[in-house]
Amino acid sequence: MRKNIVAGNWKMNNDLAQTETLITSLKSQTKTTEAEVMIAPTATNLWQAYNSLKDSEIEVIAQNMHFAESGAYTGEISASMLKSVGVTTVILGHSERREYFNETDELLAKKVDAALANKMRVIFCFGEELADRKSGNHENIVESQIKNALFHLSAWDYKSVVLAYEPVWAIGTGETASPEQAQEMHAFIRKTLADQYGYEVANSVSILYGGSVKPANAQEIFSKPDVDGGLIGGAALNAEDFFAIVNAF
Ligand code: G3P
Repeated sequence: MRKNIVAGNWKMNNDLAQTETLITSLKSQTKTTEAEVMIAPTATNLWQAYNSLKDSEIEVIAQNMHFAESGAYTGEISASMLKSVGVTTVILGHSERREYFNETDELLAKKVDAALANKMRVIFCFGEELADRKSGNHENIVESQIKNALFHLSAWDYKSVVLAYEPVWAIGTGETASPEQAQEMHAFIRKTLADQYGYEVANSVSILYGGSVKPANAQEIFSKPDVDGGLIGGAALNAEDFFAIVNAF
């Protein structure tokens, strides 16, 4: 179901005490929009975060998961383990996982299948490199990332899928995509979905933008017709900035 969503990806930041401190600040903020709000702490802090926020409007989500239910995968975490600590939504395909941990479209398709099989919601990330954008190949790259990892899914599956377009060149750089660039790509993504599944499905999927979203630029980006919110990195580590973005619709 297409909703406005703002999710904070904390990445590898905040130990147990720092997580509790930031959560206390988040709980003191006031939400003035209908947006769904999510935060993704590191795995070691999920149980604490879940218990601290279970009576709030903030959902605790995971930054990653393995596709196997269990087994000899040292250091990995399964869908059922995430669900055992109250987590039912997981970010998959983040560019940092693709870059640093060699996550391919094929591997991500397996992770998506495992999450959906466990009745979890997926926030699926994708986006082009700067060289792709400069060469005008950005739409081809995004189309292949989506098709390779998601187009085996049924139309019904998309009830549990949120898409997150994150141009790699905008992540952590301060080089935010312009609202026009974001809208152009989001409209392309929605048309790509419509060509495969029809407009009813395409118009039911939330498409988030990620890449240097800040309080100063959020409202203009979120005002675009095919932008349904944001996946926030750096600004999510400050409660006031994060809620300035949550309230920017
Ligand atoms: O997943 C969101 C993240 O990649 C965006 O990071 O710091 O550019 O908001 P940032």
